[in-house]
Amino acid sequence: MRKLHRLVPHRRPLRRSISQASRKEFQSHIFSWWKTHRRDLPWRHTHDPYKIFVSEIMLQQTQVSRVIPKYLEFIHQYPTVNSLAKASTSDVLRLWKGMGYNRRALYLKKSALLGEIPKTEKELMKLPGVGKYTARAILVFAYKQDIAMVDTNIRQILTHFFFGDAPQKEKVIQQVADQLLPKGKSWEWHQALMDYGAMELEKIPGVIKKQKKFKNSNRYFRGKLMDILREGPVKEYSSPIVTGLIKDGLVVKKDGMLLLPD
Ligand code: ADE
Repeated sequence: MRKLHRLVPHRRPLRRSISQASRKEFQSHIFSWWKTHRRDLPWRHTHDPYKIFVSEIMLQQTQVSRVIPKYLEFIHQYPTVNSLAKASTSDVLRLWKGMGYNRRALYLKKSALLGEIPKTEKELMKLPGVGKYTARAILVFAYKQDIAMVDTNIRQILTHFFFGDAPQKEKVIQQVADQLLPKGKSWEWHQALMDYGAMELEKIPGVIKKQKKFKNSNRYFRGKLMDILREGPVKEYSSPIVTGLIKDGLVVKKDGMLLLPD
């Protein structure tokens, strides 16, 4: 039988060590692109760790365009860790309306009760809702630390440019990200990669940005009930949705009613 022509280009070999030349080339590519595509986002005007923390929690699962007005509203209402610590959970949850994934509002409030935002990755990762990416984002965007962080978009960018879109282990991607970081420009570098990911990834053939199912899912009905409770208590009833929300601390039962905590 005749051999089939190879339709897929050869994958580049696994490469953990990046040459000085390709490092410089990639950095120039990203930074020259950024000169003309840089976004002006409200959380880029501050290095206040609390505000960066709020923005990063919001950006975890919500699009930038929806985060912008909510971030401004949130910071206006709760300008400091202390003001958020003193706020009632129900007020914070009401302000969170329209953002989805309401647990994040609880995470912010609980973290605020712990006091000032920590300065080390280890301590940051003890905060609820903070994983390695968010911890590092705070270190980079608030404290300008020279460390490389990898979120979904950055992983896809690096997988595309350095591995011909062949998925790699997390450790390999982190090693590459570490080598690519331009020392002393960590803040700019990561903001540029964020913008590149948001605007350029979808243009690359084969790179798909996953859309989560929403309608008819558990999340949809949780959101619906939370919206109702934002308006006021309802008579208690039981359902898996209610049980889940109570378990997560987003809803409480009181005197035969369901309501927001606090
Ligand atoms: N997503 C997470 N952090 C971001 C940032 N600083 N700018 C834009 N998108 C982001």
